[in-house]
Amino acid sequence: MTDQPFLDVRVSHYLRDLAGLQRHDPVLDEMEARADEHGFPIVGRAVGRFLEQQASAVAAERVFELGSGYGYSAYWFARAVGGAGEVHCTDGDPDNARMAEDYLRRAGLWDRVRYRVGDALEGLAATEGDFDVIYNDVDKGGYPDCWEAARDRVRVGGLYLCDNVLWYGTVPTGEDRPGFEGRGWTDAIRDHNRAVFADPRYVSTIVPIRDGVLVALRVEA
Ligand SMILES: C[S@@+](CC[C@H](N)C(=O)[O-])C[C@H]1O[C@@H](n2cnc3c(N)ncnc32)[C@H](O)[C@@H]1O
Repeated sequence: MTDQPFLDVRVSHYLRDLAGLQRHDPVLDEMEARADEHGFPIVGRAVGRFLEQQASAVAAERVFELGSGYGYSAYWFARAVGGAGEVHCTDGDPDNARMAEDYLRRAGLWDRVRYRVGDALEGLAATEGDFDVIYNDVDKGGYPDCWEAARDRVRVGGLYLCDNVLWYGTVPTGEDRPGFEGRGWTDAIRDHNRAVFADPRYVSTIVPIRDGVLVALRVEA
């Protein structure tokens, strides 16, 4: 089992380069450079554009992120929601919150972000109302609980989105990802994916860009 993205690298780079054609922002470049330098798992350009597209397609004004890091995925959601929108970010690491504020303020997007340091699910429970989009990118063992908590908080016509649902190609066979042995993360993602696909209120698809992005559209109350 390789630890590389399972898409052919030429396809991956092609998608990334296409996604980069329209967006020239030095702040975004800085955020991507930090990820490269520190090995931080941001979603990257192709998935970032995809998240923006998905949120825009449902006219999202209210987005909740479970696991925001230093704000890279939030950058794309913040673009989608517009000046009157809200992106609720959560992360357990206060350093990530500080960096997110610095980057997103300089990108002109901080006014639409509410960043809460602490457990992502506690943050969701403490925030009232439904959301147009709930996006999940926490540590993978938490995926089943995130779905449990999120599935009733997405409005009808809204989206539950989740990153890393193929976990570098290990999810179809159930083996551990090298370097992550013994954590049960592959099994947790498998359980999560089955639960999402089995919910009759949602129409779900996995889009196999980068590490697999799950898109679940809520069609029934
Ligand atoms: C994969 S990174 C998020 C990357 C981000 N979505 C992006 O693309 O820019 C996961 C982040 O979630 C945070 N995290 C993991 N589990 C968490 C939890 N249960 N509650 C809050 N934050 C969590 C980690 O500190 C880490 O910064």
